[in-house]
Parts: sequence; structure tokens; C-alpha cells
Amino acid sequence: MYTAQTLRQGLKTRRFGSKIYTFETIDSTNSCARALAACWAQEGTVIIAEHQTGGRGRMGRTWSANPLENLTFSVILRPTAPAEEVNLLPLYVGVAVADAVTRVTGLEVRCKWPNDLLIGGLKVAGILLEGSLKESSIDYVVIGIGLNVNQRTFPLELAGKATSLALQSGHDYDREELFREIMRSLESRYRAMLKNGFGGIIPLWVERSRIVGRRVSISQNGTVLTGTVKGLSVHGGLIMEHDGVEQVLLAGDVSILDTEQVAH
Ligand code: BTN
Repeated sequence: MYTAQTLRQGLKTRRFGSKIYTFETIDSTNSCARALAACWAQEGTVIIAEHQTGGRGRMGRTWSANPLENLTFSVILRPTAPAEEVNLLPLYVGVAVADAVTRVTGLEVRCKWPNDLLIGGLKVAGILLEGSLKESSIDYVVIGIGLNVNQRTFPLELAGKATSLALQSGHDYDREELFREIMRSLESRYRAMLKNGFGGIIPLWVERSRIVGRRVSISQNGTVLTGTVKGLSVHGGLIMEHDGVEQVLLAGDVSILDTEQVAH
């Protein structure tokens, strides 16, 4: 089991992980991070837990992960940015975590709109952003990351949907090393975004998703839309064309309907 001290060993980031709170058991690291953020916890503060009794996913779903085998943590951010940029943050987190995982494991990680990471078409990580806006700007955002690392068996309902780094490569990984690489990656991309603008994340995300041009179906509040993905809007929405009409979607669950064209 990790401790705040072992996680911080060799971590040279300035903001990310400047404070790390570790828990053996907690309800949800996102809930804890939100409570701390509301009490002025500094940017980069991390809450990490071995076991969540009420781990939360997007759209009211739960997130469960075996203790001692995975990474489940949240980070507090306070970006100085207008509120409409908030939908670009999941893309930033996806790109940063995907890059870190690839650097450590050599595995190819794809981004799935809006917040998932896939390996071999199966979900390896989920990202949950929750925040608070103050007037028209962002007060704080909590980024919650669940990464399946060394877990090799999943509940029946996740069969054919979930995977882990260990299942994909056949061997276990050092969770602390992965955590530190994710911190470095989150920090360097964050700095670049604050300096150059949030929009720069869009082409990086598109490159790692390979979703443009694909036929997809999107379920959103009980309705299912099908169409072809044209790209991402400047605010991170999915631009979809259906019967010659383009539509920008800001939330939903995407399933890819066609098979990928491989270039020779
Ligand atoms: C999803 O795929 O729907 C998002 C899952 C996010 C799970 C992580 S685990 C750490 C953090 N704490 C939570 O309660 N949820 C996020």
C-alpha cells in the first residue's frame, strides 16, 4: 500500500501533488476533494484512496475498483478561465492520462468522448469532473480519475466492457510510478493550456480518439441519435451530422457503429 510519502518520492511537480491526502477507505475521493476545495484547499491537492465505498461515475453511475490493485484519486484545480472552457477540461485530463499511461506501459490508449480511456476497445479508465462556477468563471474543478491497473477480474456486468493495464500486457505495474507520471503529465499540459489557451487541447484529443469520420450512436437522457462525427466544437462538444444536419452534443454515451478503416 502506498503512503503520501512514497507517492511523492521523486515527484518534482510544483502544483500537482503538492499536498497528498491518502485514505485506506473513503466514500468518494471526489466528494472529499469538493469539500476541501470549498474550504480553500490549494490547487494541485490530491485525495487518493485504496477503497471507495461510494465511488461515483458519470451520469449517476457507480465506480467500483478492487483495493490495492488500482488507482482512484482526485485533484483540485482552480484554472483562471471563463466558465465555457470547462468542457475542454475532460479532454485535457484524457490526453494527459493517456500519454502518461503510454509512457509507462507502451500500450496504445485511445480517448473516447467525452471522458473515457480505452485500450483495445475496452474501458481502462474513467474521468469524472465536478466543479463550481463563480459568476461567469470557474471557482474550482475536481478531476476524479479511476484507472484499472492490476485488477484481472471484473464483475459480470462489466464483462466485455472493462479492462486493466495488467490484462492488456500480461504483467503488473507499479502504481506509484504510474501515479507520478500522471501527475507530471497533468501538470505540464495544464501549464501549456494556461499559457497558450485551452483550445490547443482539441487537436491533441482528436488525434488520440480517431473518432472523426466514424458512424456513432449517442444515447442522451433516454434518446438515441445516430450520425457521423465531424469533429469537436471549440468548447469540446461532439459535432455530429445526421441527414445533412449538424448538431453539437455536450453529453452522452457514444458507441461506434462502423469498423475502423486501417491505412496501409
Ligand atoms: C466514469 O467513467 O463514469 C467516471 C469514473 C470516475 C471514477 C473516479 S475514481 C476517483 C474519483 N472518485 C469518484 O467517486 N469518482 C472518481
